[in-house]
Amino acid sequence: MHFYIHIPFCESKCNYCAFTSLKKDNYEKSYFQALNKDINFQLEKFNIKYNQIKTFFIGGGTPSCIDAKYYESIFKTLHPYLSQNVEISCEANPNSATLNWIKAMKNLGINRISFGAQSFHPKKLKFLGRIHNQDTIFKALENADKAGLKNINLDLIYDTKMDDKKMLEFELSNLEKIKPLITHLSAYNLTIEPKTAFAKKENFKKNAPNLMKFFIQKLTHLGFFQYEISNFSKNKNTMCKHNLSYWKGNNYIGCGLSAVGFYKNQRFYTANNLKSYIENPAFRNVEKLNSKNLELEHLFLGLRSIVGIQEKKLDFKQKEKALLLLKEKKLKYEKKRYFNPNFLLSDELALYLSS
Ligand SMILES: C[S@@+](CC[C@H](N)C(=O)[O-])C[C@H]1O[C@@H](n2cnc3c(N)ncnc32)[C@H](O)[C@@H]1O
Ligand code: SF4
Repeated sequence: MHFYIHIPFCESKCNYCAFTSLKKDNYEKSYFQALNKDINFQLEKFNIKYNQIKTFFIGGGTPSCIDAKYYESIFKTLHPYLSQNVEISCEANPNSATLNWIKAMKNLGINRISFGAQSFHPKKLKFLGRIHNQDTIFKALENADKAGLKNINLDLIYDTKMDDKKMLEFELSNLEKIKPLITHLSAYNLTIEPKTAFAKKENFKKNAPNLMKFFIQKLTHLGFFQYEISNFSKNKNTMCKHNLSYWKGNNYIGCGLSAVGFYKNQRFYTANNLKSYIENPAFRNVEKLNSKNLELEHLFLGLRSIVGIQEKKLDFKQKEKALLLLKEKKLKYEKKRYFNPNFLLSDELALYLSS
């Protein structure tokens, strides 16, 4: 089993972001009390056994804008259920990830940190609505290193209106500088999400597939191994196990405001309004997924990553198509699974197989 908790608070709202993120407004205490109740309910509901949780992800929002003391009760509740080699990731924003905060979170148990850097360029950061600068990113990485964290990720966003070859070369030159400090990189192609500042005006996205290819190639040259369309790792040991579990279609529990969980063929959604969540943290909206939904998810997630797709999950027609793609060298086959050697074609291949 895998576990996700959502921390829905942020210091400011970024122009591209559709994740639930609110001003703290002194809600920390009541939120964390509700979150703890929610976690206890879910542990009981899914009959979670000691040592059963293989990965635990603290996402947001901005987990680093919350004092580490609030996480103590959460760790106390979850501790017996975490497996011995559990991966515990926590998202953090560079401007709020102080040395003391990282040290305190490491003492509680985190062993992986993920910084939302998005860019090193002052104008691009401003354009994205970020409140940190390049120095803040370097400082945050230094803090994580000083605190003794060995698994450090950086998030970047590209394919914005401001990205061209020169801008991406600027990002790459900075990545080269900090390469010894990071073990993982997530490079996200900008998505224009409804109801964000970017959805309201002109097109803020570049839509340049060639730039995407260029950036991915350069990241590979820098020594990052691409294991999913947006995710790169220094080596096989530093891939994010939590995200891999999503792409494998594993079960996970999601707690916190606007969190999502998945079990067998059902998806569970918590309340998306803070007051309703605090009043009834155990509430779940349940979505039943039919076999077609599950099949599509298996194809899309598998082809976007090194997870691949299982031969036994393909019907006769899909197997014929997969064999054709194998002949054309658009798929590879190993141990009863098909693998996609070019993640940029993943959606196209998934659509072809599912049509
Ligand atoms: C759940 S967010 C929260 C991380 C953290 N609050 C931060 O901003 O640093 C995780 C990552 O998703 C990416 N992201 C969020 N919205 C995006 C969008 N519309 N397009 C592309 N990437 C996005 C960003 O890189 C962000 O760091
Ligand atoms: S990108 Fe991160 S900091 Fe910005 S609004 Fe979204 S969750 Fe908050």
